[in-house]
Amino acid sequence: MSHDGDCFLVPGPVRMAQNCLDAMATPTITARGGEYRDVMADLNSGLRAAFNLSPSQAVKKTQSWTGEDQYKVVVVSGSGTAAMEMVIANRFRKNDIVLVPTNGKFGERVAEMSGRFCSVKHLKYEWGRAFDLYELEQQLERKCYEALLICHNETSSGITQDAAAIAEMCQRHGVALILDGITSVGGCEVLPHQWGAEAVVVGAQKCTAGPSGIAAIAINPNFEKRAKIIAKQGDVNPTYYLDLLAALKKGDDDQTPWTPAINLSMGWAAALNNLKQEGLENRWARCSKMANGVRNLFTDIGFELLADRSQRSDTVTAIMYPEGIDDSWRTALGEKYDTQVIGAQDHLKGKMFRVGSMGETPIEEMIEGCKRMLNCFRDFNVEIPQIDVESYFV
Ligand SMILES: Cc1ncc(COP(=O)(O)O)c(C=O)c1O
Repeated sequence: MSHDGDCFLVPGPVRMAQNCLDAMATPTITARGGEYRDVMADLNSGLRAAFNLSPSQAVKKTQSWTGEDQYKVVVVSGSGTAAMEMVIANRFRKNDIVLVPTNGKFGERVAEMSGRFCSVKHLKYEWGRAFDLYELEQQLERKCYEALLICHNETSSGITQDAAAIAEMCQRHGVALILDGITSVGGCEVLPHQWGAEAVVVGAQKCTAGPSGIAAIAINPNFEKRAKIIAKQGDVNPTYYLDLLAALKKGDDDQTPWTPAINLSMGWAAALNNLKQEGLENRWARCSKMANGVRNLFTDIGFELLADRSQRSDTVTAIMYPEGIDDSWRTALGEKYDTQVIGAQDHLKGKMFRVGSMGETPIEEMIEGCKRMLNCFRDFNVEIPQIDVESYFV
């Protein structure tokens, strides 16, 4: 099978399937009736599958948002950043101290955001470098931290954190673990229950191939308990729209405190059903196969990848431009080859490009996209050998 048409290989927002687009075109329904409760139940059940939590029925009035593992999923009208803010603002008091190791833009944003609601010890590593786990252990031994927050899959630098090892440390030290899983949930292994994570955040437009502007969080009973204690003590950070307790009061009834993003919910529920149908582990495997192919192909022809070899992401690959190439290559790739990849952020702008391998992207599209990328580099006089691109994706 080959791929015709454009290649859309960005690390989110990703292309939405036709059934997701169709679902969003459903004529308006009321926000408070049984029909919307059906949508919410479908969405909750799909979210539990994407978060790798115990299953729930996609049926209203069956507490579809929770399950045997007692995690609850809460839908947030807003992008991933809103969901992350909801988690941080509601979980911490001003004088709590949190540890935030970072190795890219989105981790740095977690640290910055945390600073609005509590005290932060920011361990800033170079973009793409693995955290020094020995240093994290030493920090946790200080016993002053309420939580450790990580951007699990750092989209800006293409590195996935060793969450299992970090979770084990957090459990040993009795420190809460919170993950920005915005580009990992639904795309690579995330085990909230096994890791004992108090909260994990996902954005619809990334690995679950839903629409932009809607997100969700998964929280465990410890999180809920702590948020309630803080509120009771009157020590809570100011929130109104993002008041998690208000959302928790409505969950059992398949409702949200404010008007929900009705049509986005419908689209996301459809996209999550596609994920259920594919199977979570099959989706992880497809993303991994695509990322692995991209990594091996580009390193074999002499390109450098930004992230440390042992922790390269399966949902986004950050590739350094060869000498003499900048983002004008990306413009040409879009204009001449109808292929989209994304550039870099901050200090790496113009120095590298990023290829997304998430959502419902078929392998054929990735293969075709890679061929076009190589041809575009040839147009820019980069010496690229004739290479069997398909063989990297078998
Ligand atoms: C890892 C990560 N965290 C946070 C964000 C911000 O999410 P949003 O743009 O949905 O608010 C992104 C967006 O690319 C991301 O990749």
